Amino acid sequence: MDKIVVNRAAAERLRSFFPWVYRTDIQQSAGEPGDLVSVHDPGGTFLGIGYINPASEISVRILSFSEVEINRDFFREKLMAAFRKREALRGKTDACRLVHAEADELPGIIVDDYAGHLAIQVNTLGMERLRDLLLPELVELRQPKGIYEKSEAKSRSREGLGTEDRVLHGEIPGRIEIAESGARFLVNLRESQKTGFFLDQRRNREITSSYVEAGFEVLDVFANTGAFGIHAALHGARRVRLVDVSREALEQARENLALNRVAAQTVRADAFDYLTEAPGARDRFDLIILDPPPFAKAKRMTAGALKGLRHLICQSLRILRPGGFLAVFSCSHHVSQVDLQRAVLEAATDRGCRIEILEHLFQDRDHPYVLNIPMSLYLKGFLLKSF
Ligand SMILES: C[S@@+](CC[C@H](N)C(=O)[O-])C[C@H]1O[C@@H](n2cnc3c(N)ncnc32)[C@H](O)[C@@H]1O
Repeated sequence: MDKIVVNRAAAERLRSFFPWVYRTDIQQSAGEPGDLVSVHDPGGTFLGIGYINPASEISVRILSFSEVEINRDFFREKLMAAFRKREALRGKTDACRLVHAEADELPGIIVDDYAGHLAIQVNTLGMERLRDLLLPELVELRQPKGIYEKSEAKSRSREGLGTEDRVLHGEIPGRIEIAESGARFLVNLRESQKTGFFLDQRRNREITSSYVEAGFEVLDVFANTGAFGIHAALHGARRVRLVDVSREALEQARENLALNRVAAQTVRADAFDYLTEAPGARDRFDLIILDPPPFAKAKRMTAGALKGLRHLICQSLRILRPGGFLAVFSCSHHVSQVDLQRAVLEAATDRGCRIEILEHLFQDRDHPYVLNIPMSLYLKGFLLKSF
């Protein structure tokens, strides 16, 4: 295996289990794109084994901080460790993220399980080269009914890879039915966003819907396939409105409403326009959910993202009943929880509202947050009560 040498700053980070080496950290490079390399500090001490792609700003991703062989047994152990972490979800759902890339020490790959059908996303050249070691282990351990590859992340183009959208193994039906805390959803792997369903919000849907009382009027903004709104309806909400800009997502939301035998109005609109203009003069809600896509994909976009969030919160507070609930989220790593809290306070001050924070919300446990990898915490939110 080729050896590379990194500077002292990178060596420090690697010693504290941060799994990336940036291009500018490398003092002495070696290996072809996608090759396994062993990483050393300037004194020659071993730091880890990873794969290299000098074309990417993150040039090395670490697979192991120990001197081990990267073979099928290696992947079997990592997969088994990842599966064990998800065991606590059993009984609550049959859909979860089984492998969350770096947060499960398997950089460059995501695996979701939808009732025994797997969706995988391979995001790096290095993992593309290792897939023949990992995938047979995945099949042997999970015995999936099918595997669908949905490798279309933008990160792939940075790695010099194209899109892959295909059935890899077994059969994948047009709709897969999953269960989540008493609700059921249909997942269409071929036409969905992400790898199928927003699994990371599972716990937050459960917490938010536990505040719903019979007769509530609920507005689910950025609703996607309706998961928050449907949980609210199942908890007794009298009127639910789902707003999303995506026609396909709302079509799937209507299927999900029928499956759960609940009703909701679906509105195809831009959320900013809708919240600013559309609700009728007398429309008031007891619960509003704001779950936008990542507004800040890079650090330089953070200020704009916060401005957008402030606007959405401000408009929501305008149409929330006194004593009503607002669940607000950001899924950008670059927006911290403190940033989001500040955006809430500024919007509340603008509107003259007093706000109580009832719940601090994070991505669910199948999307692990590893303290040594700051970017592994990406989803933050609050459940608020406004007076
Ligand atoms: C994070 S997802 C929401 C997930 C959803 N709450 C759930 O639990 O399944 C963000 C959603 O925002 C929608 N979206 C993106 N930009 C939008 C916009 N400007 N207005 C309305 N919806 C938008 C996307 O189509 C996507 O469904």
